[in-house]
Amino acid sequence: MQDKIKKARDAIQKACKIMVFTGAGISRESGVPTFREAGGLWDKFKVEDFATPEAFQQRPKEVWEWYRFRRNLMRKVKPNPAHYAVAELDERHDDFLLATQNIDNLHQIAGAKRVMELHGNIFRSYCMKCGYEADESVSELTGEVPSCTRDDCSGVMRPKVVWFGEQLDPDVLEQSFRFAAQADCCIVIGTSGLVYPAAQLPFLARRNDACVIEINPEPSAITPITDYFLQGPAGEIMPQLLEETR
Ligand code: OAD
Repeated sequence: MQDKIKKARDAIQKACKIMVFTGAGISRESGVPTFREAGGLWDKFKVEDFATPEAFQQRPKEVWEWYRFRRNLMRKVKPNPAHYAVAELDERHDDFLLATQNIDNLHQIAGAKRVMELHGNIFRSYCMKCGYEADESVSELTGEVPSCTRDDCSGVMRPKVVWFGEQLDPDVLEQSFRFAAQADCCIVIGTSGLVYPAAQLPFLARRNDACVIEINPEPSAITPITDYFLQGPAGEIMPQLLEETR
């Protein structure tokens, strides 16, 4: 394992264009539940009950309650050493992009600057009528289903997250895809690699002959295309990937 970590570290040092692609697993050690593992969110809740446009249309109050519950949980957690290591990579490398599927803000709290939020951000909301965007204070204060506070709009506000069946923000997707297709190193952390189009990113990098490094305690759908699969928790392995260069 130490030999593999050293080789992966060398590849990162040599790389010019580095993409990091993260999923729920990177926040696991901070206390945020993942989705598909035993005891994960999709074990306890049905996707179609809470994370689809149809669910919101039919039961907006319950969906908001679920997002408030998750916000409260995410507000209490802190970044772990893996988030800080990613932020350090961002600071160190001129040509860097982090594409995350996470909505918990922990990368930004850790200091990452160049972040593409593929699936949105749980602490933001937007008006379904006029598009006005607000931070969590609006939806927290108004209770129930919050309405738009801009002028006399009063449209229904919804969480700024991507639900199943919805398109990702085309700019975010385009910038992430373009970067991945030119990257020479792609570090994949804590994702099952099952949700598309996000999961396509490491495959685009691979097609460009990028060195693909994965950190995960379990093999994922991305593992077969990796050069270095570093099996273990991100909070332990990520800092080791930067160690000698500190
Ligand atoms: P998943 O729950 O599908 O996968 C979590 C991954 O994290 C698994 O591969 C775990 O083995 C791994 N993992 C667990 N603990 C870890 C640790 N300490 N360090 C590193 N890895 C660890 O979560 P995602 O792949 O993020 O989408 O799921 C992708 C998308 O599906 C989410 O963004 C969300 C969900 O439905 C939307 O809400 C649109």
